[in-house]
Amino acid sequence: MSKQILVTGGTGYIGSHTVVELQNEGFNVVIVDDLSNSGIEVLDAIEKITGKRPAFEKFNLTDQDKTNAFFEKYPGIAAIVHFAAFKAVGESVEKPLEYYHNNLVSLMNLLRSMREHKIPDMVFSSSCTVYGQPEKLPVTEDTPRKPAESPYGNTKAVSEDIMRDFARATEGINCIALRYFNPIGAHPSALIGELPVGVPNNLVPFITQTAAGLRDELKIFGDDYNTPDGTAIRDYINVVDLAKAHVVAINRLLNNKQKASYEFFNIGTGEGYSVMQLVKAFIKVTGVNLKYSVVGRRAGDIEKIWADTSYANNELGWKAEKTLEETLKSAWEWEKHVRNIR
Ligand code: UD1
Repeated sequence: MSKQILVTGGTGYIGSHTVVELQNEGFNVVIVDDLSNSGIEVLDAIEKITGKRPAFEKFNLTDQDKTNAFFEKYPGIAAIVHFAAFKAVGESVEKPLEYYHNNLVSLMNLLRSMREHKIPDMVFSSSCTVYGQPEKLPVTEDTPRKPAESPYGNTKAVSEDIMRDFARATEGINCIALRYFNPIGAHPSALIGELPVGVPNNLVPFITQTAAGLRDELKIFGDDYNTPDGTAIRDYINVVDLAKAHVVAINRLLNNKQKASYEFFNIGTGEGYSVMQLVKAFIKVTGVNLKYSVVGRRAGDIEKIWADTSYANNELGWKAEKTLEETLKSAWEWEKHVRNIR
């Protein structure tokens, strides 16, 4: 019988792509999402892609009674992939208490439920933000974490610590944190993708919305960094590649292949691209004339980061496969689908 996986935040950007990959691998998925930053129509898209509609429950995991009731209703859950969290860096600076409450209480409720209902395994979405600006590049898993620049970033670091301590202290509980670099792109079907509410904070959604005519021009935040063209460098990982890393991590836990009760991995491509390189690549692959100008640096941004992925490659047997070009093309195909552009 196929195993049932709880995906929290499963209608969100990375969550929905992971649900697709889990279902493609034969898993049974139940999604919990409060729909605070996603829409119910994502379920239709997932069904269209995979031929199977995941079970769905709408509530916020900070509600302990509802969380308990959920696990009573679904006694067969084998493992959890936990995405559900607030993720806007700027907003977290304005509303720190809301961010700490939402992101940490939901995690703790889930961990308590795992203990009570004997669910052994969790995969958690962490971020390379825990490294801050590293002294040495690329970043390995041995690179020390730095104090977070924002409450959002801090919730990722604290969540990692909570999982580490709880897994260590609790027989039969194992957790894997995946530290994502910059996830971009969309499913090749163009039926799911990233759909930010309001003005996008992140680079690629801003680019595609500008290309679609929703924004006047892209503002490039700073060209005076210590990089070859002066713009900041990131490791952009295709969201489908990233989703597949979750399936690998789930299988590692279900098959008891983990080396410790808490593990973490860098999930990136190993390649750094500058903002300017990315913009030029987008224009080249889509043929769209994207308007852009350079403005000052954005507060809190780091200069450059990219992953050393050898640990994830060797230990998980996972590797990013898609090129930056096809990933940018997929982001544009998704934007065109959303805006009805032909
Ligand atoms: C941001 C968060 C990071 C979080 C991730 C989640 C900050 C400081 N970091 O990563 O903690 O995990 O989102 O999605 O917010 N850029 C422009 N113009 C734009 C938008 C972005 O030039 O309109 C540049 C940025 O300065 C940066 C690069 O594009 O150099 C990528 O930015 P973004 O997509 O926002 O991701 P990060 O800031 O790397």
